[in-house]
Amino acid sequence: MNTNREIRINTNSGIRINTIFNNNTFDTVFNNNSTVGEIVAIMPKAAEIFKQYKIDFCCGGNRKLLEVIKEHNLDEEKILEKLNEIFEENSKVKTNGKNFLEMSQNELINYIESTHHVYLRRVLPELNELTTKIMRVHAFKHEELFRVHKLFSTLRADLEQHLMKEEEILFPLIREYEKEYEKNPNPQVFEKVKQVMKETEDEHEAAGDILKELRRITNDYNVPEDGCNTYAITFKTLEELETDLFQHIHLENNILFKNWRD
Ligand SMILES: [Fe+2]
Ligand SMILES: [Fe+2]
Repeated sequence: MNTNREIRINTNSGIRINTIFNNNTFDTVFNNNSTVGEIVAIMPKAAEIFKQYKIDFCCGGNRKLLEVIKEHNLDEEKILEKLNEIFEENSKVKTNGKNFLEMSQNELINYIESTHHVYLRRVLPELNELTTKIMRVHAFKHEELFRVHKLFSTLRADLEQHLMKEEEILFPLIREYEKEYEKNPNPQVFEKVKQVMKETEDEHEAAGDILKELRRITNDYNVPEDGCNTYAITFKTLEELETDLFQHIHLENNILFKNWRD
């Protein structure tokens, strides 16, 4: 699909996007009601700006951008300007060459499993060793490392169950629905998917809360002066986990689950 987009800032009404799909011109307007999740779904790179300003775009993705800006007393003009710059830089709706909005549900699930789930299965055991190691060596001087270890252990246990639930229950149900029932809706299967999806979203929220707490108690993953190399690697890896998990939850909450909402 040939996609051309143009974005203009209008600080009264938010961000305006004119979009051309297959020569059919229509306007998509981001206005005062546009949510953070919608903006990232259309412009994935906006996530970088939101991270910079600590605007939650995964679990808090259904909140209106302008409300969040006001609530946290952020510079609206600057943020809209940065969104505009990103748009101009990266005018195609793609991240890593992927257009998530054009994927079928099955394709998106395959992508999530083969990238984000595989990443978590690799990094969680690694971080378990790392957080244990720095706790052993440094916690007598940096007591917050006990809490880092505990929070990470909870996150790890929760995520291991969560991945299993998605892979064994939720994703097979969505695939089945897309294949069998899209043309002939089945209310029972539909309700079942929505119920599991709701549990899944609650789990995302809990994981997001733990990540926020980890960031807070580590002072934005700031390594103290007496911190060793392992200390630095641990914090860097925790921060990478945060980035990956935010993108992962965003793809599920704001794109994959979107069609299932009322
Ligand atoms: Fe997932
Ligand atoms: Fe998930």
